[in-house]
Amino acid sequence: MSGRIPRQFIDDLLVRVDIVDVIDSHVPLKKMGANYSARCPFHNEKTPSFSVNRNKQFFHCFGCHASGNVISFLMDFNHLTFVEAIEELATFCGVEIPYEKQSSHTEPQQKNKLIDLQQLMQQVATFYSQQLKQNQNKDIAIDYLKGRGILGETARDFMLGYAPEDWQILSAHFDTQLLCEAGMLAFKNDNYYERFRQRIMFPIRNKRGHIIGFGGRILKDDPKQPKYLNSPETPLFHKGNEVYGLYELLKQNSRPTRILVVEGYMDVVTLAQYGIHYAVAALGTSLSATQLQLLFRSTPEVILCFDGDKAGKEAAWRAMDAVFSVINDNRQVRVLLLPIEHDPDSLIHVEGVDAFTQRIEQADILSDYFFAHFQETLNLGSIEGRAKLVNQAKPYLLKLADCFFKEMTLKRLHELSQFDISPTLERETLAAAQPSQKNNSSQKQAKNTRHSLERLSLAMLVQYPKLIEKFQNNPIDWNTLDFSGIDIFKAIVHTIITYKPETTAQLLEFYRDKPEEKVLNALAALPILVSEKAVESEFSGALNRFIVQAKQTRLEKLLDQETAVGLNDEEKEILRQLLLR
Ligand code: UTP
Ligand code: MN
Repeated sequence: MSGRIPRQFIDDLLVRVDIVDVIDSHVPLKKMGANYSARCPFHNEKTPSFSVNRNKQFFHCFGCHASGNVISFLMDFNHLTFVEAIEELATFCGVEIPYEKQSSHTEPQQKNKLIDLQQLMQQVATFYSQQLKQNQNKDIAIDYLKGRGILGETARDFMLGYAPEDWQILSAHFDTQLLCEAGMLAFKNDNYYERFRQRIMFPIRNKRGHIIGFGGRILKDDPKQPKYLNSPETPLFHKGNEVYGLYELLKQNSRPTRILVVEGYMDVVTLAQYGIHYAVAALGTSLSATQLQLLFRSTPEVILCFDGDKAGKEAAWRAMDAVFSVINDNRQVRVLLLPIEHDPDSLIHVEGVDAFTQRIEQADILSDYFFAHFQETLNLGSIEGRAKLVNQAKPYLLKLADCFFKEMTLKRLHELSQFDISPTLERETLAAAQPSQKNNSSQKQAKNTRHSLERLSLAMLVQYPKLIEKFQNNPIDWNTLDFSGIDIFKAIVHTIITYKPETTAQLLEFYRDKPEEKVLNALAALPILVSEKAVESEFSGALNRFIVQAKQTRLEKLLDQETAVGLNDEEKEILRQLLLR
């Protein structure tokens, strides 16, 4: 692969390919009325609730709520990245991807630079691992690893190394400028010196096995020095996007049934040595949504494992931000808190692999962990406690995609709080896509009961983007309209007018990875219960009601204004016209 894939190509691909053919080649489909259906490949079921619509070029499961266009299907079904899915689709259609030639002057250099950096990192890792065998002080490092129970074989699998005491040993072997850009040197007192000295080195590899950074542990605990040093952000290394150990894990098993996320490098390495080859570590930061997405491309289940101390508990809870924004019915998350004073490395040495595996198997399911967290601090016997519960749980629920997990979490919250948060949530989900209207919330609340008509019309528009012509024949004065979700309504109308998608699939593609994506997917899957023939007249009807509503709002405003401050001539004329009708 080289260069960017042009947007236009992706758009054309979505026209050229038929989602029914692509999905049928993975999951045999049966024609059922206007749709094609099958047993859902994303969850276990006996009767088919997975449905593919040729006109919309969209799939949707009524059971697990998985949905999307053909690109999303390939990404989810084959665990592909976006680019990999496009590549597969292009192969399916027998077309070549016209990767954009990097025409500017900087880009080819940029690209060569990345390759240079990659090669350098590989050489540096090799160098450090040789030092573990050859350096005159190698025994200190070897003894340290032995002391931690690490076998030679394990050190080899993870390419562990030794950064000797020297301040300038790397610079003696490699290009200083490149070392600097790779984050291997630091600058102090007018001099470059080695960032990692007298440390055990853990090379961090990306999914493809390229070394992109290092973690380094000191050999003797020393309060004046950080125990672990990590590579800084470099053109190759973006901490929040990578996890330690994923390459090594996938080498053992490319489709693990679960991945355990632990806190430390040592935990990953020791667990692997005990035969638990499915652990990775977030790189000393709280787990990001990007890291979780990365994991979910390879497995359906992620188990978050934290130390049982205060810091570990806090880290587990912090991870919920990321968890709730990526979870859906095809993905499972569980949480495992270890006994205080232990991390996986220490615990598995003490209790062995069977006991540890049993802990993994008994890890809390996400919803249990989520609610137990609140129950620890809130008194749900009181109204205040229950109100706090609703209030504290709400931000997480707002992050959730529409799925059974969401519904069931809502149900549980309802039981615990004796309060139905669903209407509030639905309102805020639509409103979340339109941050500008945060102020007049009481007004919004009053108008909220109206929103199903708007939601339904918006769903029609998303499912039949051609309906946009109705707007163009019958323009609406949007400024006079005000309902919950108006901004996203306007934004979608604008997108369709400028971008002219032919199908729902193309419209969804435009919103991929944008904040509105979830709302769009939900709208695409919303049952509008209107036959295809009747859609146009239904939509016209809704449109007319909007126009009437807009006029009414305008009229009321002008009347208010007349009483309060009076009207100018132009306004008087408008009022006269409005009253005439
Ligand atoms: P811990 O302090 O829990 O260390 O840090 P550990 O993994 O148990 O290490 P050992 O067993 O003493 O060798 C967990 C992770 O946090 C990051 C590292 O990624 C480490 O693996 N960390 C920790 C840092 O980045 N810097 C530090 O100074 C300490
Ligand atoms: Mn440890």
